[in-house]
Amino acid sequence: MLERQSKPLDFSACKIPEHVAIIMDGNGRWARSKGLPRVAGHRAGAENLRRIINACVEFGIKILTIYAFSTENWGRPESEVRGLMRIFARVLDQEIGELHEQGVCLHHLGDLEGVEAKLQDKVRRAIELTKDNDRLVLNVAFNYGGRAEILHAVRQMLADDISPEILTEELFSSYLFTRGLKDPDLVIRTSGELRISNFLIWQAAYSEYYPTPAFWPDFGREGLYEAIVAYNKRDRRYGLVPDES
Ligand code: IPE
Ligand code: IPE
Ligand code: MG
Repeated sequence: MLERQSKPLDFSACKIPEHVAIIMDGNGRWARSKGLPRVAGHRAGAENLRRIINACVEFGIKILTIYAFSTENWGRPESEVRGLMRIFARVLDQEIGELHEQGVCLHHLGDLEGVEAKLQDKVRRAIELTKDNDRLVLNVAFNYGGRAEILHAVRQMLADDISPEILTEELFSSYLFTRGLKDPDLVIRTSGELRISNFLIWQAAYSEYYPTPAFWPDFGREGLYEAIVAYNKRDRRYGLVPDES
């Protein structure tokens, strides 16, 4: 479903971030502003995700990481959690063929064990189907928490008898769900909230942060373009002094 009448965007002076991560927030408020139930917001959010994946392929972004469901989101009302799980399952069924054709390689960040068996199965099959694709890596953070990810890594390292002397940041990173992938260049959060909410707390140490007031279902391709334009105005110093050459 590529949008046919999309406006041409000018990327001539733009460096495309290689890895973009998004906290897709504001579905509930989007729905409330329209007098709809929260789950309608999640459905609209899933439709927007389609638009954003298409835009990432179009713009040449290589890695997209999306925060779909946090370890804390289980605490929401049961009906909302059930509605979300149903949407994830349906989106996987309906979209995986086209994602595969587009060259999207699906990864999962988080703990699949906590998820219903049928959904686990769908995720595993989708990962297997798309594993050799290389146009866009799509990391879906689902039943994901940054702290849980760090604990998981530490447990694995202890089980592997990693000795303190050999532990480096690189080795630690190789135990995270994002192993082998570049850290995010740009982290976008929709809906105006100014917090990280347990997302990529290790990997986003030097990411550029872009909050936008748009609710996630309204963010869209042009919203992503504006985020990239803003990213291009940033001076990434990594603790050093500005480059004045
Ligand atoms: C993001 O939208 C989706 C998930 C967290 C699953 P929200 O559901 O958090 O929407 P708001 O923040 O309540 O508006
Ligand atoms: C973060 O949004 C999680 C996802 C987008 C999946 P939340 O809506 O759960 O975060 P808080 O509660 O505003 O921090
Ligand atoms: Mg929220």
